[in-house]
Amino acid sequence: MATVAAAPVRGDVKDLSLAAAGRKRVEWAERDMPVLRAIRQRFEREKPLAGMRMSACLHITAETANLARTLKAGGAELVLCASNPLSTQDDVAACLMKEFGIAVYAIKGEDEHSYYRHIAAALAHRPHVTMDDGADLVSAMIFIALDRLDDVHNEVRKWAATLSSSDRKELVGNVVASMEETTTGVIRLRAMEKDGVLKLPVIAVNDAQTKHFFDNRYGTGQSTIDGVIRATDALLAGRQLVVCGYGWCGKGVALRARGMGAHVIVTEINPIRALEAAMDGFQVKPMAQAAPLGDLFITVTGDIHVIRAEHFAAMKDGAMICNSGHFNVELALDDLAKLATTINRGVREFVDEYVLKDGRRLYVLGEGRLINLAAAHGHPASVMDMSFAAQALATEWSVQNKGKLEHKVHQVPKEVDEFVASLKLQTMGIAIDTLTAEQTKYLASWEMGT
Ligand SMILES: NC(=O)c1ccc[n+]([C@@H]2O[C@H](COP(=O)([O-])OP(=O)(O)OC[C@H]3O[C@@H](n4cnc5c(N)ncnc54)[C@H](O)[C@@H]3O)[C@@H](O)[C@H]2O)c1
Repeated sequence: MATVAAAPVRGDVKDLSLAAAGRKRVEWAERDMPVLRAIRQRFEREKPLAGMRMSACLHITAETANLARTLKAGGAELVLCASNPLSTQDDVAACLMKEFGIAVYAIKGEDEHSYYRHIAAALAHRPHVTMDDGADLVSAMIFIALDRLDDVHNEVRKWAATLSSSDRKELVGNVVASMEETTTGVIRLRAMEKDGVLKLPVIAVNDAQTKHFFDNRYGTGQSTIDGVIRATDALLAGRQLVVCGYGWCGKGVALRARGMGAHVIVTEINPIRALEAAMDGFQVKPMAQAAPLGDLFITVTGDIHVIRAEHFAAMKDGAMICNSGHFNVELALDDLAKLATTINRGVREFVDEYVLKDGRRLYVLGEGRLINLAAAHGHPASVMDMSFAAQALATEWSVQNKGKLEHKVHQVPKEVDEFVASLKLQTMGIAIDTLTAEQTKYLASWEMGT
């Protein structure tokens, strides 16, 4: 892998001297990202993103670094900031700045002020294309365009207050399109569309089949279990695990946990998903009934306060609780703090102990933030290869369609999905059948085969 740039760039990372270690991580991930590598090689030749300023708010990991290299190879002038204060790999951030000349604003464990100061820095780049993992950049731009500065964090407000009213509108008006990486972000963006405030086209990369079928299910499934084990060293075999939510992520977590010998209970609010869980062989119960049974609870719903006071109050001594769904909102930790007489922070890295009045101890992992990113390294590169190939190609497609896309949430074109899947199969050495002429005719006909 050749160094692309050594020029000093703007940014805010922990320590640039970590760059060499970060480079090893980026190279290791790249070995498992052949689809993205093929796209980068083409982007280097064709420069489809030339002249585009891009701001991306993503987990700053080795896999993201390979996406960033691809976008830069395509000609984009890129700024990265973190989409989660705990998921940044500081050595990767340093490598991106020092070795690849990409501006990065992200430090692992940054406080709320730094987190939003970094988002403001990404907005100040005045992007033509944005990329989000949870819609933070788009939400901030929309509030700014609506002059609703009271609704943004103080650090973003301070920067936005320096803009004229027309500049605030232009910030969002300049955006050709925004890519959204995750389920929750797409939900927020659809809500904006419904309320008529979505002032830019959004591409729901999360909804691409090559993304959520694989990333949410196999990526979150494996890396969540990995995060729990790294944080606790717990044996899953024989333990009672409660998975809240049986969507794509929940299916993956439940499947992997069962594979390691855990007894899994699923909680749901959707009757179809609950039925699916039951027919997949899991116990399904309401949270009130699951709470006293679980040794380990994992939320993956995208919803708020899924585990709250009445559930914590019913849990057994030693129960462990974590979230791998949305940000840090799925566990009502304020409720738990009120129930606790003592909170012992950091009894082990990523573990806080809450002691209740009767002496029961409950353990919260990763402060209720995404455990697969806080305690482990996020999704394996092989699965991010597909998600980020879809991101890169959706970005190219939206730039090709500049000015033609309506201000709504768009799906990734089917051809992009099929291209990514075909290339991935090819790199895995898997060939599939193609339709014969007779079969093509048969499947298109209503007259044959009766
Ligand atoms: N940790 C990660 O790296 C990672 C990766 C991908 C997605 N995510 C996040 O995980 C969350 C879930 O994603 P998904 O793709 O599985 O979404 P999904 O919509 O497919 O599934 C969510 C499920 O949770 C259920 N649910 C909602 N509220 C509930 C409640 N109160 N109790 C029980 N179940 C409830 C829904 O009915 C749905 O079946 C999202 O917030 C997404 O952004 C995290």
